Amino acid sequence: MEVVIYPDAQRVARHGAGLVEAMLGAKPAAVLGFATGSTPIALYRQLIGRYRAGSLSFKKVTSFNLDEYLGIAPDNPQSYRAFMDREFFEHVDIDRSNTHLPGCPPGGNPQKVGPRYEAMIREAGGIDLQILGLGQNGHIGFNEPSSSLASRTRVKTLTPRTLEDNSRLFKSGEAQPRLAITMGIGTIMDARRILLLATGESKAGAVASMVEGPVSATCPASILQMHESVTVLIDEPAAALLKNREYYDRANRENRALKERFGEFYAER
Ligand code: GLP
Repeated sequence: MEVVIYPDAQRVARHGAGLVEAMLGAKPAAVLGFATGSTPIALYRQLIGRYRAGSLSFKKVTSFNLDEYLGIAPDNPQSYRAFMDREFFEHVDIDRSNTHLPGCPPGGNPQKVGPRYEAMIREAGGIDLQILGLGQNGHIGFNEPSSSLASRTRVKTLTPRTLEDNSRLFKSGEAQPRLAITMGIGTIMDARRILLLATGESKAGAVASMVEGPVSATCPASILQMHESVTVLIDEPAAALLKNREYYDRANRENRALKERFGEFYAER
């Protein structure tokens, strides 16, 4: 795992945008996995800025989002589809018909969404770069603690903790979905490269469990220890509970020197 710690969330977003830009430079028709939540918003703003400056284009990109609430229509402002349109898709040149979320149309059978979504990802050639946030309880996507570490896209019941964490985003009286359809942990692990962003002190416990804890379904993000190409970008508050912090800083200095001399290939994971 490459763990990079920055003084603030803005620098985290900038590094993340650099990785997306590098991916699109190497492969303009890349398949990108997008995430929602407040954390990636700064990354999306960076990407929009770079698109406007002409340094990158999403014209040939296909995208798959991690998850979508079940039981709210795509045009509901609380849907993740609406979030992605508002925060990102409307501001760049991505072809909206190439953007996918695992939503279930009203009246549709939610159990059928997962296998269809998996087939679409496969047909697109698999995900080249998956962007992830991190739940305070260690979830990735909506893979809540106790999720099978081999799971595929499916319906998940949200935990009380997640409902509480996300309740800040709903006005009083507004219905908050209790179920979602999410890529599984196995689906996420199939991505060729993974970029996880976590910022703020509320994430410190989950970050420590993910990076330094045992691999366990109790902290679904800990499975990323088994992926060969993960970059974890965090700010100081999110790094507060890491025990081996000095080592990560030193490894990053060494990695930077190696990358400058030999290119990305030599990056330590
Ligand atoms: C939601 C999403 C996750 C996201 C998490 C953290 O539950 N399903 O994909 O990573 O929230 O969100 P935030 O970045 O707002 O803390």
